[in-house]
Amino acid sequence: MTGIEELGRRALADIAAADTPAALEQLRVALLGKGGSVTAQLKSLGALPAGERKAAGEAINRVRDAIGEALGARREALESAALDARLAGETVDVTLPGRNPGRGGLHPVSRTLERIAGIFGKLGYELADGPEIEDDWHNFEALNFPPHHPARAMHDTFYVSADGSGDRRLLRTHTSGVQVRYMQDLVAAGGKPPLRMIAAGKVYRSDSDQTHTPMFHQVEGLLVDEQASLADLKGTLVEFVRAFFERDFEMRFRPSYFPFTEPSAELDIAWQQPDGSTRWLEVLGCGMVHPSVLRNVGIDPERHTGFAFGLGVERFAMLRYGVDDLRSFFDNDVRFLRQFA
Ligand code: DAH
Repeated sequence: MTGIEELGRRALADIAAADTPAALEQLRVALLGKGGSVTAQLKSLGALPAGERKAAGEAINRVRDAIGEALGARREALESAALDARLAGETVDVTLPGRNPGRGGLHPVSRTLERIAGIFGKLGYELADGPEIEDDWHNFEALNFPPHHPARAMHDTFYVSADGSGDRRLLRTHTSGVQVRYMQDLVAAGGKPPLRMIAAGKVYRSDSDQTHTPMFHQVEGLLVDEQASLADLKGTLVEFVRAFFERDFEMRFRPSYFPFTEPSAELDIAWQQPDGSTRWLEVLGCGMVHPSVLRNVGIDPERHTGFAFGLGVERFAMLRYGVDDLRSFFDNDVRFLRQFA
């Protein structure tokens, strides 16, 4: 019976050539399905003479089994090829370098604050803190600015009065109020001088131009002891300026006025200009603590003397980094900020 053998050979060749599961399924239906060609052969067995039926039946069954096996094997081969293709497509190259999310950096004002605090830390100054929303007494009165004192005019700020009760609070105009808080706390806890503190933080004034922003940062320093002198103040600040800029300058203490110090001075440094000439630049205010300030916090000015100083952090940052517009510190332009990271 050559017909069935021929049909089997062709079927196996077709199966081997089927390249998708759908094509394979079509072949299965065409061969072994109800109307399939192998099925038709089986159906036709009844029409054969009895003597040929057995051999013909065996031949058809052999071919049917061979086809069934070939279909199964081909299906498995196609499935594993599909899986291989998927795996190859989804491969992760674990040897690739990771995506770098980029590292942040400290803001230049923060770096400058840390640098200043670090220098005074080495000189034994303790870091103190105070509220940014301050009361009139700590910001002004205890520092010898009575109401209507003309020196208040330079400290125009933002007033806050939560309940309209006349208990006026304000965004502090300087960090000098922390001197008062620090000494009050010390005395309340039963302590007394000697003391050395610095305070750092944000202050607020109604000001805005190339060298002023409504918010800026100050560092305040205070030392009180039995014989603190103007010479100690000068020595400390000269050392500080040298350490901060890692350079020596000609410096001068120019008489000035602050209500809470007497005498008062401003420290100027001879700053080299791009054309090689030098110019006096004011970098901080300082003085000997006024006796009234000590008295206001319960320290006896007959026994103790002190010195204080206050500086603008942005000013120091601008000089150190060569920045010419203070406002660029607060524009949050990463192209600017990245230079300091
Ligand atoms: N508080 C002053 C200001 O903001 C700066 C200052 C000057 C602070 C002299 C001091 C000082 O402690 O002694 O203008």
